[in-house]
Amino acid sequence: MSYQLIDGKATAAAIKEQIAQEVQGIVAEGGRRPHLVAVLVGHDGGSETYVKNKVIACEQCGFRSTLIRYEDDVTEEELLACVNRLNNDETVDGFIVQLPLPKHIDEQRVTMAIDYKKDVDGFHPINVAIGLPCFISATPLGILTLLRHYNIETSGKKCVVLGRSNIVGKPMAQLMMQKQYGDSTVTVCHSHSKTLKQECREADIIIAAIGHPDFVTADMVKEGAVIIDVGTTRVEDATRKSGWRLNGDVKFDEVAPKCSFITPVPGGVGPMTICSLMKNTLAAARHEFYK
Ligand code: GUN
Repeated sequence: MSYQLIDGKATAAAIKEQIAQEVQGIVAEGGRRPHLVAVLVGHDGGSETYVKNKVIACEQCGFRSTLIRYEDDVTEEELLACVNRLNNDETVDGFIVQLPLPKHIDEQRVTMAIDYKKDVDGFHPINVAIGLPCFISATPLGILTLLRHYNIETSGKKCVVLGRSNIVGKPMAQLMMQKQYGDSTVTVCHSHSKTLKQECREADIIIAAIGHPDFVTADMVKEGAVIIDVGTTRVEDATRKSGWRLNGDVKFDEVAPKCSFITPVPGGVGPMTICSLMKNTLAAARHEFYK
C-alpha cells in the first residue's frame, strides 16, 4: 500500500501563520497581544527543549511570552504562590507549569491551583473533555486537528489508544469517543493489557502514546490503518552531534508500507502540540470559552 505521510510541521506552520494574522488584526484594532507565561522548574533536558520551542512559537504568532524559572529545590508553597500570582495577573491570558515537577512537589495540587480560565494546557479537571467548549489539552487537540486537516474519517471507526496517561491517553480516548470530535469506537490499551496486539490488529486508527520506542510493529497493524505516533523517547545515536535522536512508539520503516496515513517522528504530532497551545492561548485572550 502506498501511504501518505502526515506532515505535522507544515500543518503547524500554516496554523501559526493564521494565528499571527489574527493577532495582527487584534493589535491593529488597539487590542493587546495574547500573553503566555511558562513556568519551568529545574533543568530537565526534555522540558528545557519544550519550553524553548513554546517561547519561539509565541514569537512566531506575535504573542508576548514570559518564562519564569525556578531551581529544583523550589518548595511547593513557593510554586503555589507563583500560580496564585499568575491567576490574578490581568496581563496574563494563559500559563503553563511544565511537567514533570520534582518529586517533592505534588503535581496534582499545582495543576488544580491553576485558574481553569487560564489553563491553556487543558489539564484542570474542568477542562478535561466533558463535552463542553473548553481548553482541550495540546497533544490531543493537535492530533484531532491533523485528522481533520487530512480529511481522515473517524466516525464509526475502531480506534485503539495505546497508553493511559493524564496528558495524552485518557483525554485522547475521551475525545475520540465524543460525537463532535472523533465519534469513534474507542479501546484503550496499556502495558498490562493482555489483548493489546489483537486489539491493534483490528484497529482502523492507532494512536500510540505508550512511551516505548518502536513498540508498534508491522504484525500489529491492519492493512490500510491510520497510525498516529505520539512517542518522543530520546535514544542514543552516535551519528548525531547531540549523541541522541527522538524515537517514536512505532517501528516506522516496517509499519508505514501497511498504512494509509502515518505521522513521522519528529515532524508529526510534536509540532502540532505546540501550535495547539498557541490556539488555546489565543482562545484565552479572546475569552472564547469563559468570560
Ligand atoms: N510535559 C510534557 N508535555 C507537556 C505539556 O503539554 N504541558 C506541560 N505543562 N508539561 C508537559
